[in-house]
Amino acid sequence: MTNLSLLILPGDGIGPEVMAEVRKIIDWYGTKRGVTFDVTEDLVGGCAYDKYGTPLHDDTMAKAQAVDAVLLGAVGGPKYDNLDFSVKPERGLLRLRKEMDLFANLRPAQCFDALADFSSLKKDVVAGLDIMIVRELTSGIYFGEPRGIFKEGNERVGINTQRYTESEIERVARAAFELARKRGNKVCSMEKANVMESGILWREVVTEVHAKDYADVELSHMYADAGAMQLCRWPKQFDVIVTDNLFGDLLSDAAAMLTGSLGMLPSASLGAPMASGRPKALYEPVHGSAPDIAGQGKANPIACVLSFAMALRYSFDMGAEADRVEKAVEKVLADGLRTADLLGEEGVTPVSTGEMGDAIVAALDASL
Ligand code: NAI
Ligand code: MG
Repeated sequence: MTNLSLLILPGDGIGPEVMAEVRKIIDWYGTKRGVTFDVTEDLVGGCAYDKYGTPLHDDTMAKAQAVDAVLLGAVGGPKYDNLDFSVKPERGLLRLRKEMDLFANLRPAQCFDALADFSSLKKDVVAGLDIMIVRELTSGIYFGEPRGIFKEGNERVGINTQRYTESEIERVARAAFELARKRGNKVCSMEKANVMESGILWREVVTEVHAKDYADVELSHMYADAGAMQLCRWPKQFDVIVTDNLFGDLLSDAAAMLTGSLGMLPSASLGAPMASGRPKALYEPVHGSAPDIAGQGKANPIACVLSFAMALRYSFDMGAEADRVEKAVEKVLADGLRTADLLGEEGVTPVSTGEMGDAIVAALDASL
């Protein structure tokens, strides 16, 4: 293994189609930049179930634990809808996240100028937008006990528990501050400290971590409901937003839609540092397996390409190369190339998944 090992899990539906375009970029790095990634490919999701009867084989799990970074396409599809819950394709993804203990979910919301008209918000509100939401991913109300539906007297009661320990808050806060230092040096922490004790603790711990180790980063706090309003009103006021699992789920989906298509949105999920000093890391587009367009060459590969760019930046310390890939994407969009999901203007003929990937590679060539 070189010190740039990558496990690729294309998955189901459009996963393999968009991943094929990332492979072109990985090959480009080998031939044009002398940067060779040690790539292993394996199965996850429905295709793994078809072969092994489980959506994630133990061997695949072990590989994921050993590599520098995992890049995943998408899982699922109608063929698997009636499978037992324990072997559903999504369980493969959940197992990866859980066993790698990926507690910080990074969801950038970035608006490429060429697509600013595509947003449901006014162009000047979103043009040039570049923010990052850091969502705590492994604790909080989705995991807290007690939980369940119980009988209480004559009626049923549904219970979920929001629970955060100091160390869980501290590690995600550190991830957010570290990120901010590589970006705009600003963190806004969001909770509901006005009505929730877990929110009070969240604010205290974030404040303590900041004072102790990150006083150079600008820190502000906002109640999450006010934060939702501010995200719609003037999102450019933010750089990094750090928040809990539940609020992060909602805020990151809302922020994503500021910028347009699902086909454009990358993500990263990071865990604790490994022996190499690199964090455990899984990169994946936000979208699913898109069965409605799978196998037709219509999928937009940009979300997956930008997920690879995040891997360059956060796993491989190749920030300048991540910029190069992002600029190549920006260039093809500025040149007017659009996959079908990005069609707004009349009279534009969409390009295929493969044509979009080729154009990005050509733009990388032009960057040398
Ligand atoms: P989806 O994200 O697959 O598709 C939603 C809509 O967006 C569809 O109309 C699709 O054609 C379009 N779309 C998505 N990605 C696109 C791309 N790259 N280029 C162009 N258009 C794109 O979500 P949906 O339909 O709710 O779920 C489909 C399957 O994917 C289900 O089995 C679901 O469980 C699974 N899924 C998997 C996820 C993952 O692997 N992380 C996340 C979300 C859903
Ligand atoms: Mg969600």
